[in-house]
Amino acid sequence: MWKSLHQFFPAPVRLLLALVAIACLPSAGALAQTNSRYESFRFGVCYYPEQWPESYWEDDARRMQECGVNTVRMGEFGWAIMEPREGHYDFSLFDRAIETLGRHGIKTIFGTPTAAPPKWLTHKYPEVLNVSRTGQPVNDQSRRQYSYTSPIYRQFSRKIVEALALHYRDNTNIIGWQIDNELNNENPECFSESCRAAFRAWLKQKYGTLDELNARWGTVVWSQTYSDWAQIDLPFPTPAFHNPALMLDYKRFISASATDYLNDQIEILRRYRPNDFLTHNGAFKNINYYNFSRSLDLHAYDNYPTFDDSPRYPTGASLTLVRGFNGRMMIMEQLTGPAGQTYMLRTPQPGQARLWAMQAVAHGADGLLHFRWRSAMRGAEEYWFGVLDHDNVPRARFEEFKQEGLELQKIGPQIVGSKVVSKIAVIKDFEAEWVFDYQFLTQEVSVGAVYNALFQAASEQRHNIDFVGPDADLSGYKLVFAPQLALMDEALAGRLKRFVEQGGTLVMSAHSAIKDRDNAFTTNTIPTGLTDLFGAELDSFQTYQPPSRPDNAVRLDDGSLLPVNVFAEVLHPTTARVLGRWERDYFKDAPAATEQRFGRGKAIYYGSLFDLDSARYLIKRYAGEIGLKPLVQDGPEQVEVTCRTRGATDFYFVLNHGDSPTTVNVGDGFIDALTDKSEAASFTLAPFDYRVLKRERPADSSL
Ligand code: GAL
Repeated sequence: MWKSLHQFFPAPVRLLLALVAIACLPSAGALAQTNSRYESFRFGVCYYPEQWPESYWEDDARRMQECGVNTVRMGEFGWAIMEPREGHYDFSLFDRAIETLGRHGIKTIFGTPTAAPPKWLTHKYPEVLNVSRTGQPVNDQSRRQYSYTSPIYRQFSRKIVEALALHYRDNTNIIGWQIDNELNNENPECFSESCRAAFRAWLKQKYGTLDELNARWGTVVWSQTYSDWAQIDLPFPTPAFHNPALMLDYKRFISASATDYLNDQIEILRRYRPNDFLTHNGAFKNINYYNFSRSLDLHAYDNYPTFDDSPRYPTGASLTLVRGFNGRMMIMEQLTGPAGQTYMLRTPQPGQARLWAMQAVAHGADGLLHFRWRSAMRGAEEYWFGVLDHDNVPRARFEEFKQEGLELQKIGPQIVGSKVVSKIAVIKDFEAEWVFDYQFLTQEVSVGAVYNALFQAASEQRHNIDFVGPDADLSGYKLVFAPQLALMDEALAGRLKRFVEQGGTLVMSAHSAIKDRDNAFTTNTIPTGLTDLFGAELDSFQTYQPPSRPDNAVRLDDGSLLPVNVFAEVLHPTTARVLGRWERDYFKDAPAATEQRFGRGKAIYYGSLFDLDSARYLIKRYAGEIGLKPLVQDGPEQVEVTCRTRGATDFYFVLNHGDSPTTVNVGDGFIDALTDKSEAASFTLAPFDYRVLKRERPADSSL
């Protein structure tokens, strides 16, 4: 049908038709949401049968089965094979691969292939290509080159997904679907014609009238008043700076168009395969994943720890983040060994890849697939090593994978569906973070670093921690951190107040509640909407240039000294008591942190950004004050401990991240989930080894 539209309508009319089609899609909220489609623990690999002779497949399946594999993902880059010519579908290669694996008890998560369009498509319809901010269409000789808003691309992707869903309608070896692959990786912006039209339509829908948009964007500044929607453009490079309201709306638009694109495929797959679970893999820029993941059964993460030099804490923080997107997580791609493309990352030490896999499970993964079964011989990923080498000879990575698989065969079914239960939460507001993408303030302001610091401090002190969206129900938490939540609205302010009123402890950092959701300052005193909660106002502030750390410090009431992080806010307490004062500069001794009781709880305002020092101090002080019990008492630093809970059973994950053996004492009463034997309170872990221990909680004890 699209072909005829393409022939008879000029581009602007086609765009309009497509926008109408997009607007008619069921909204995320209208799509069914249930987690019950994902039931058992899935372990396996990403498999690319199309890259290997068919004579390999049987042996691959046999060896996978030997390693405890029950699931593969395949198909996500196979469009050129599935639709070799426009409108001619051929899924036979995948039929045979799925069937071969199925005979060995291995199920398939099918990846819809839309992350890599075939050449015939991009050459015949070049308007599907994304366009970079310089106005150049992106080249099609790789992947992720298309625009989510392209009407033609949407048409083709709907058609291939519908053909797949119909073809596999009755296939019992397929259990779930991964939609596309890593949206916004490699291409998190869009400057195409279709995005320009879709952006205008999105703004029209949001603001209704140009008067409203002009007022809320403040276009009176620099004579930017719009008198026609067609005058609004994407944020192409300009001689001077952009309007921050436009910049924030642009990110919201990118996120909304990725979500819309995802929901297109969700709607089709739910129609034909209502019992399969649906997921998407990855966490990248410019997507508000709390909205994005709402209609998925679970969110999948691609976990490659060696992108960090010192991966333990950043990886734990990322897993914590993804787990919170919709409450359920699996790992679709887990690092297996040496990895690189044009570059090469550090090679994991023997045992480390298995430990990192268990770390993912420890932080809530309900399934885990390694990337990839066999290292590719050709193409862009030759250096990304899989379970087997190019020559198909099983070596150390194969043995490690097999050990992990057989262990998870025992542990997986016990822990699947259990939750990491935390009493500490950190609010993560994607929109507030996007403010800093444009108005970055100083090179030192790093939202990611703040989350890593809070995660690390909690983990060091043996507490579980959650990252939650700004709409989350906070009632289950006791201690909540609000880091640089630049944008405040009545609903969020109300939730924060209720949390404290009902007995919670809230710690908010500098640069919070300074603007409204339009990314604009207001006539309110800062922290806007929260001055009564904190009993303090922002008087003034200093912005220290990098490195800010030596420039000032907060002296706390107990004598501790915490180095400044970028901002030194001078607070004016109205009803709060002063918790700390500035150590230096022209405002020496002025209030730097305050604390006050509010309802049954306590509100603390910390006048600088959080970093590792302040996160450690604040968690210790306030978790201690409210009596939060750590999971274990101390233990060597190289050991990480997390806990997943189901009903009255606690599963403790005890992970040795060190390359030396170490002894840890977790307390009495544990059974080893792998061996079913009682474990001594104190035991020794070999380098990069772990234990999963379970214990029933006495009926009278709460978490
Ligand atoms: C992921 C991607 C995979 C593969 C892998 C290793 O980002 O989803 O397709 O490219 O990285 O590079």
